[in-house]
Formats: sequence, C-alpha cells, structure tokens
Amino acid sequence: MGLWTLDDIPWDRFDHKKLDPEIVRIVKAAALVEHNGTAYAHHLCRIFADDPAFQKTARRWGEEETQHGRALARWAALADPDFDFDRAFLRFQAGYRVDFDSPRSRRGSRAGEMVARCIVEVGTSSYYTALREVAAEPVLQEICRHIAADELRHYRLFYKTLDRCLAQEPIGRFARVRIALGRVAESEDDELAYAYYAANAGHLPYDRRHYTRAYARRAYALYRPHHIERGIAMLLKAVGLTPNGRFSLVASRLVWRAMRYRAARLAKMAA
Ligand SMILES: [Fe+2]
Ligand SMILES: [Fe+2]
Repeated sequence: MGLWTLDDIPWDRFDHKKLDPEIVRIVKAAALVEHNGTAYAHHLCRIFADDPAFQKTARRWGEEETQHGRALARWAALADPDFDFDRAFLRFQAGYRVDFDSPRSRRGSRAGEMVARCIVEVGTSSYYTALREVAAEPVLQEICRHIAADELRHYRLFYKTLDRCLAQEPIGRFARVRIALGRVAESEDDELAYAYYAANAGHLPYDRRHYTRAYARRAYALYRPHHIERGIAMLLKAVGLTPNGRFSLVASRLVWRAMRYRAARLAKMAA
C-alpha cells in the first residue's frame, strides 16, 4: 500500500465549472496506462526472479501505479459520467499487447531495465507536475500532487536499484545513454496513442498516426521550461552524467525548443 489512498482525495470539492475538456481526454488515457501497473510489476518480478526482496518492492510499486489509475478513472467519471472505464480498459488491453511474462528485459540487462524505469518515472513525475500546474479543477490538482510525489519516489527507488545492479553487472555510460534515449523515443510509441484512442474514441477504427498526434498535441501543451530542466537533470543523473552542469542547461534549452516546435506544428495540423 502506498502513502495515500483514494479516501485522502477531497472528492466533494470537485468543481464542474473548472473543467477543461482537453485535459479530461488526456486524464482518461493516463488512467488506462497507470492501471496497467500490475502487469509491469509482474514483468519486473520475472526479470528479478532470484530476488524476493526486490519482487516485493516491485509489487508494491505496481499497486501504487494501479492506484494512480483508479484515482484518475474516478476523477474522469466525475468529469464525464459517460466514461466507462472498465470497457475502455478492456479495449486498451486487447489492442496494446506487450509480453509482460518474458523473463528477459528488452533493455538487455537488469541495469538497463532500471535505466528505462528511471526514464519512465522522469516522464511521469514531470507530466503530473505540469498537469497539476495547468489544471484549474481542484480535485485533479490534488490527485496530481499525490501522484507526482509517488513518481519522484519511484524514480529514487529505481535509481537506487540501478546502482546495485551496476555493481553486479556494469554497463557503460554510452549504453545507458542509448537505453535512455531509446526509452524517451518510445514515449511516442503505441502505448499512449492507443490509450488515448481506447479512452476517447474506441467506437472508431484505430489510426496510429492520428491518435499519436492527438495525444501528443494535448500533452506537449502542458509543459513549461522548468519541467524540462528538471526532467533533463534527472535523466542525466540516471545515465551517470552531471545533472546540473552546463551540458544540462544547453540540453534543456534544445529540448524545450524542439518541444515547442513540435507542439506548434501539431496545433497547426489540428487547426
Ligand atoms: Fe504512476
Ligand atoms: Fe511511477
């Protein structure tokens, strides 16, 4: 069990007048992805088959991710009473398939898996921080505050585990950078696009390109430079580079510009 439960959320403060329909759409998608946490935890338990202590930690982590999904789903149902989470989740699971039962990490090693997990937590902690700052609806703000704190704690957990894995099976900085960049690139793969589709348009045929853009346009609009700076520092730390040096500053500016360019292009295409 995590540090908070759904009972800690002030649901009675929900304010319909402060809803933004664009935000409701991406929250529905996030609820589906988060709710898949147990499946990812199972995969980690398979990869760390001889480490019962880490398996216990991974299962707790998976429960926390699933709770994120439950909180976001309950909020989405308040925002849109027609939202059928169970149906959308079945659709998501049926259409987005990963071999969660594989005992091997796609990243080639346990250390590589931990680099990738760190990158995911960098992404989620930045995302929920940005969403909390943009959202006007007070219950969503509170949910995002709790989730962002969890995601930061998850980053620290995987970073600590990465350190331990590196002591047993060292992988170089170059390999870590490659894995990290590969995982960042995957943020535009099918998972988020399919979740966005399953949550918002499941009655229509799936068009990967269309839904990748539909999700990305709404998600990119949330970010501000300070989210990128913090995310880049966390990423650099995970790959063994100085998190707060000159390189970090330059990289943050470049990423921010690239994101702004992409966000503007996506907005233009949608207009
Ligand atoms: Fe999460
Ligand atoms: Fe997390």
